[in-house]
Amino acid sequence: MQRYQITEFDLINLKQWFSRYVQSFYSPDPMVRKAIVLKEKHSLMVCKEIMNIGRMLDMNSGDLMLAEVMALFHDIGRFEQFTRYKTFVDRKSENHGELGVKVLKREKTLTALDEDTRELIMKAVSYHNRFSIPEDESTVCLYFSKLLRDADKLDIFNLVSTYYYVGNSERSAAVELDLPDIPEVSEEIMTSLNEGKKISVRQLRSLNDFKLLQLAWIYDINYRPTFRMIYERDYLRKIRDTLPKSEGIDFIYSRLMSYLRKNI
Ligand SMILES: [Fe+2]
Repeated sequence: MQRYQITEFDLINLKQWFSRYVQSFYSPDPMVRKAIVLKEKHSLMVCKEIMNIGRMLDMNSGDLMLAEVMALFHDIGRFEQFTRYKTFVDRKSENHGELGVKVLKREKTLTALDEDTRELIMKAVSYHNRFSIPEDESTVCLYFSKLLRDADKLDIFNLVSTYYYVGNSERSAAVELDLPDIPEVSEEIMTSLNEGKKISVRQLRSLNDFKLLQLAWIYDINYRPTFRMIYERDYLRKIRDTLPKSEGIDFIYSRLMSYLRKNI
């Protein structure tokens, strides 16, 4: 992975650029401001998580810095998305991964880096929220894209496993993708989960479906250290406990847990 180069100096500059860029979206409107701050914190947490996973994978310091830049910018499209469309729902606005790449190009954020490194970062950003990564990508691109997807999920697990326990007034439609909090769980989602399949955002009908989608992310985790952290932090149980009690869900939960245990 020698071809890809990030120096400590680059990293410092890019972090400064990030915080200046995000601050330009701080709005007097409390709803917008809250959403912007939420994604700013999330981006910084994903930086921490990607370093946690990377260190456990014994990555060298250069690769760790590169991974950190990817984490820092993975949701860079979110700030413009929310400001323009007042939603984080890609279907109602635009794909935030691709929007992120447009922002990085338009703002010339990565011009200090060599072309290969720049392209690699932009690919990881554009693949972070796809249903799956194109399999014909280079080994290095797959390696980093998978790492970024793991780190992103780790922080979202953290966010949602605490978030579902707070009262309605503290919750926001921005996190819940505007889905209704009704007791139902869709049959289609249960079937996908019973078959050990990932779930697509398009299948979602309720907040419970969304929680199940997040549980099913376990099938989309790539690295052993990530599995271990999910296990140690007990994320699946925390999310499961906010779902209605039913035999169907119990069954799915035990399947997910045994898949998790197999991978730690
Ligand atoms: Fe994202």
